Amino acid sequence: MHKIPVGVLGASGYAGRELCAIIQAHPGLSLAFAAANSQRGETAALPLGGSVTFRATDDVRLGDAALVFSALPHGASSEWVARARAAGAKVVDLSSDHRIGNGASDGIPYGLTELRRDAVRSADLVANPGCYPTAALLGLLPLLEGGHVAKGARIDISAASGVTGAGLSPRLDLLFGEITENFRAYGVGGAHRHLKEMRALATELRADADLLFTPHLLPIARGILATITVPLAAPLADPMGLWRDRFAGERFIEVTDELPELRQVQHRNVARITVRTVEGVRTPTLQVFSAIDNLVKGAAGQAMQNANLMLGLDEGLGLRA
Ligand SMILES: NC(=O)c1ccc[n+]([C@@H]2O[C@H](COP(=O)([O-])OP(=O)(O)OC[C@H]3O[C@@H](n4cnc5c(N)ncnc54)[C@H](OP(=O)(O)O)[C@@H]3O)[C@@H](O)[C@H]2O)c1
Repeated sequence: MHKIPVGVLGASGYAGRELCAIIQAHPGLSLAFAAANSQRGETAALPLGGSVTFRATDDVRLGDAALVFSALPHGASSEWVARARAAGAKVVDLSSDHRIGNGASDGIPYGLTELRRDAVRSADLVANPGCYPTAALLGLLPLLEGGHVAKGARIDISAASGVTGAGLSPRLDLLFGEITENFRAYGVGGAHRHLKEMRALATELRADADLLFTPHLLPIARGILATITVPLAAPLADPMGLWRDRFAGERFIEVTDELPELRQVQHRNVARITVRTVEGVRTPTLQVFSAIDNLVKGAAGQAMQNANLMLGLDEGLGLRA
């Protein structure tokens, strides 16, 4: 099979390394370049074996790749996305720079693949969703699309993430001694950056509701579990049926009877979702539980689903469900 060359910017970061690992195992793609900043020239081990050597970002020829993944920090990404586009490459931007709710997103599909598949297929640039929004929005999709949320309601998203969600840059509050045997909230009071894209998508889907988002830091490396409480316009006779119908045939969404756990999704490109009716409350209310690996379905895996579509390949090629 002829292999299509793709490149990774920010390859030395957590999301970038995950992308390099997926590309190296991908039957239809070859790694044209893996670019880094301070780690230029270094060789690093990849998550599931193999290794990669990083080149300086300024030294790579962006046009050598048919498609470039930008796994650069927000703010730094948009300039390199523009350069890659000018060099003729398609781009999947994993940063927030081109996501809805963050400005500069006109006409750029928000790559929540199970929602925007058709737009992604014909796009030259796709904004890959954030990790928390991927978990929360996939869980919420059947309710938002079906208009089942009570008017003026507050959707409460409480979610916890492993520390790779914060990236590789050294930080005192992310030292092992600070996070181990500990659990805390952060970015509270509506301050977390991911809230903007979640609110923007809920608005696009015509939900008349407030979104409250409380992220927490888990003392583990990878995984996000979102617990979402949603007041309903009317009771649902068969809540699970709604999710099963919406995601029927979706190979990367697992609708399960049991509550999802992080060890079931780690290193896999899946969202595992279940719902429960809440008893003993006056407003009909559902709880939705959604678990993903933040680096796979929440970043590199979903980016590869989008890239496969943009390159005319099978959406699941090279991905582990
Ligand atoms: N981590 C997640 O769970 C996750 C999930 C979804 C989306 N994302 C998004 O994906 C992007 C990468 O996240 P991450 O967690 O992988 O971050 P990270 O671990 O901090 O990695 C950042 C990468 O960007 C490079 N870099 C930083 N500043 C640069 C600059 N000015 N020019 C060129 N390269 C530069 C770094 O190179 P050096 O290390 O060599 O300096 C590194 O390769 C972010 O936009 C993030 O929001 C992350």
